[in-house]
Amino acid sequence: MPHPLEQLRDHALREIESARDEQSLEAARVRYLGRSGSISAWGDRMKTLGTEEKPIVGKLLNEVRNSVTAAIEARAETLRTEKESEALAKIDVSLPGTPSERGSLHPLTEMLDRSIDIFRRMGFALADGPDIEDEWHCFDALNTPPEHPARNEQDTFYLPDGRLLRTHTSTVQIRAMQAAPPPLRVIAPGACYRRDEIDATHSAQFHQIEGLYVDKNVSVGELKGSLEFFMRELFGPETAVQFRPHYFPFTEPSLEIYVKSKALKRGDQWIEVAGCGMVHPAVFEEVNKARGDTAYDPEKWTGFAFGLGMDRLAMILFDIPDIRLFAQNDLRFLKQFA
Ligand code: DAH
Repeated sequence: MPHPLEQLRDHALREIESARDEQSLEAARVRYLGRSGSISAWGDRMKTLGTEEKPIVGKLLNEVRNSVTAAIEARAETLRTEKESEALAKIDVSLPGTPSERGSLHPLTEMLDRSIDIFRRMGFALADGPDIEDEWHCFDALNTPPEHPARNEQDTFYLPDGRLLRTHTSTVQIRAMQAAPPPLRVIAPGACYRRDEIDATHSAQFHQIEGLYVDKNVSVGELKGSLEFFMRELFGPETAVQFRPHYFPFTEPSLEIYVKSKALKRGDQWIEVAGCGMVHPAVFEEVNKARGDTAYDPEKWTGFAFGLGMDRLAMILFDIPDIRLFAQNDLRFLKQFA
């Protein structure tokens, strides 16, 4: 004769197995294992049993509870899977899908990637510096005296604490030299900020790639060769490159770079694309002072530096008429570069 608990279990298992949905399964659970369920009732009945019977029935009760609980879980899982495959069966896989829109790189990002790639091939490493700078990195260390117009509040965004939004990426020249002794060959791409009147060619935020190369006997010839190579890689081998004398406080001599190329829309004009020059000895001296050594001894080391306007280059390369388009997020504009 099976024990009544065993009979109860067999009943329960059959009922669970035949439950057609979640509700009837839950009803079965409550009926057997709920607070006043028929299996749970045996818990109370235990108290009335004699000392011999108690451990045997106790053990049996445990087994019954476990197997019924396991059966409920297994049945629930089966019902879930059945429901899922029913739902899946209703999907018509022959229907056309919903295409996801393809993104593309922003033209400035594209320009930056191409430029970085060219400099990488020339052995330049990437350097970085903060957009919020101190006056020393932006001006003093770059041989720019306090009375220089760039330091005017009309031209530069100052923070209440005296710091500022960097007006050029030349700040990273200084940071790179503070961080490592020569020789050094780095580029630093990044955003710059000026309080310009905003129009088709001026924006309060624009982008530059700074370059710095310091070594023994670096010459103007190497400066010209490197940047000519860059311009021809970027604008095509037929590009003409011109260097015109200019003035920057942190280079001597200083030059501006102009390009002209038949491959460009404005192919018949010389277009100014960058500033460059040989690092001014005063810059090395100021870096030495900050480093507290003479690592950048201007008698031993020379270097060239350059600053390329990324927005400008992208406007020329992709024939974009207005710098403001870069920041307007108009998909009709951006999709043209996809
Ligand atoms: N910092 C200059 C500017 O923003 C550009 C520049 C000129 C950078 C000459 C240089 C350089 O490194 O040598 O107009």
